[in-house]
Amino acid sequence: MADKADKILEIRDLVVEYSTRRGYARAINGASFSLEKGEIFGLVGESGCGKSTLGKSILRLLPKSARIKEGDIIFKGDKILSWPENKINREIRGKEISMVIQNPQNALNPVFTVGTQILDVLYFKSGKKKRRAQLKGRAIEILKKMGLSDPEYRLNEYPHQFSGGMKQRVMLAMAFISNPSLLIADEPTTALDVTVEAQILELLKGLVADFGTSILYITHDLGVVSEITDRIAVMYAGHLVEVAPTEELFNNPLHPYTKGLLRCLPGVETGEILPTIPGQVPDINNPPSGCKFNPRCQQVMSECRQDIPLLQLKSQGHHVSCFAVSCQEGEGNHGSG
Ligand SMILES: Nc1ncnc2c1ncn2[C@@H]1O[C@H](COP(=O)(O)OP(=O)(O)OP(=O)(O)O)[C@@H](O)[C@H]1O
Ligand code: SF4
Ligand SMILES: [Mg+2]
Repeated sequence: MADKADKILEIRDLVVEYSTRRGYARAINGASFSLEKGEIFGLVGESGCGKSTLGKSILRLLPKSARIKEGDIIFKGDKILSWPENKINREIRGKEISMVIQNPQNALNPVFTVGTQILDVLYFKSGKKKRRAQLKGRAIEILKKMGLSDPEYRLNEYPHQFSGGMKQRVMLAMAFISNPSLLIADEPTTALDVTVEAQILELLKGLVADFGTSILYITHDLGVVSEITDRIAVMYAGHLVEVAPTEELFNNPLHPYTKGLLRCLPGVETGEILPTIPGQVPDINNPPSGCKFNPRCQQVMSECRQDIPLLQLKSQGHHVSCFAVSCQEGEGNHGSG
């Protein structure tokens, strides 16, 4: 485990709410975790659990209807939540922290060539000190690094002439132009087929090795994070319910939700009918009281409907929030709610 000096990002007790017609609804409910330099940290959970909200909070890219109500976001020792918008724009966004999203088609402008768009990013990153033509060599170099074949030729093409995997390589090229300390990758391979997905995952691993970048890898797919992450946080209804090193999480899952997600993973056999977790992620406007997983949990007890279990350390680096686990080990520690 890296020491404190290697900590790139720390999220402390983050609470994020959306304004809705029924008042403020809580999408993130007291999330805390940290990322070390060069670490790939997976954030997993079903649709609507709050993964993207958490990722966007770090870069303050939330819609106007959202507010960060409580907590701290500490990047390289600075409490960046208190920074004004222009300072975040100048020093953090697309510089120290970059983000790639699920659908690269939406992020690329269809009316400009890929080259124009990459050269624009390079031009602004150079502080407008260099002409775009002078930056062409750098654009080709970074596209090559991202594994795009024939980049000199590709620069003249438009996004619709690129496959999904090629577009995601372009997005990664733009994200890595400033050599960021942290990349937030929000479902970057969800729209891709499994072969291209595997190539992009290999590319990300290589970039971490080459640049020492840390990655917050957001996905609903535990199978994907098992390939590349060092640690995983499982999120449910705005709560982190289990955080552990990847191997430990797969070998010794403790939270009933994590166990359910793992049971849903496809195996190598074909034709098998995969189990599902009955029920749905709760609506943030009307969450159940107590543990948010209680309506779907097969181990539910009466206390689960009254109190929210705290995230507690169970063994080296392995945290879990579940009364059933706490009861087994005689360490009950209840949060309110
Ligand atoms: N602009 C918004 N206004 C109100 N509620 C929102 C808004 N954006 C997201 N939410 C709600 O916040 C919760 C978390 O959404 P979020 O998009 O962060 O989930 P997610 O885990 O990224 O899901 P997915 O896997 O589908 O991308 C959901 O209940 C969602 O409906
Ligand atoms: S706290 Fe209770 S309801 Fe929640 S996951 Fe644990 S056993 Fe299930
Ligand atoms: Mg999302």
